[in-house]
Amino acid sequence: MKVTMKIRRFNPETETESRYQEYSIEAEPTDRVLDGLMHIKSYVDGSLAFRRSCGHGVCGSDAMIINGKECLACKTLFRDVAPGDEAVVTIEPLRHQPVQRDLMVDQSRFFQSYRSVMPFLFNDRPAEGGKERIQSQAEREVFDDETNCILCTACFSACPVLDVNPNYVGPAALVQASRFVNDSRDAGLDPRLSVLNDPNGVWSCDNHFDCTRVCPREIKVTKAINFLKRKISKQLETKA
Ligand code: SF4
Ligand code: FES
Repeated sequence: MKVTMKIRRFNPETETESRYQEYSIEAEPTDRVLDGLMHIKSYVDGSLAFRRSCGHGVCGSDAMIINGKECLACKTLFRDVAPGDEAVVTIEPLRHQPVQRDLMVDQSRFFQSYRSVMPFLFNDRPAEGGKERIQSQAEREVFDDETNCILCTACFSACPVLDVNPNYVGPAALVQASRFVNDSRDAGLDPRLSVLNDPNGVWSCDNHFDCTRVCPREIKVTKAINFLKRKISKQLETKA
């Protein structure tokens, strides 16, 4: 099949505005959009910039907007986004993060949010038998969904709250917070409260569900955020 890849391009070092560039390529319906990008990069236009690493939906580095929806290019097949021969597939960089070049965004703001929720285990009690912190299978299953996050930032791009409040910590960081707060071994809700229990923390979330809709790992992002809201309210009631 013939596909036109319409790619939003921008080089902030030499341009003042982004522009779209179209590339017509031959592809199989079962080829991935990432294959198309790599073909262009290797054989048509070496100046095209995008990120990718694993090629198999694990590293999260090739999240981008394909036909208006956040996706991983390595998990998106042409047959699903290019209906029929000569279809146009529009590819744009993620939102809410400045473009470094073409489809690459500067993730500094996102990682600042990620670090702010302290995504690591808090527990200064001695481990059982001085060796390890035992966790049952059922206790581990409680936060199984959140451990699937690959930090692709698709949810950060799709969240409409970030359009109006760029200081919102964002859904991905809250998924990480939920992962640890749900962990039976963790005792770190209190130190995390200053970030989570804040107008820019969980309370910014208006339950739009766009994060859940785009997450390539099918994590129930909004559910995780609502869990945190309930947990924080309960914690504050206990302290009152
Ligand atoms: S929650 Fe889903 S969309 Fe958000 S960063 Fe993690 S994997 Fe990506
Ligand atoms: S290249 Fe790693 S997730 Fe797509």
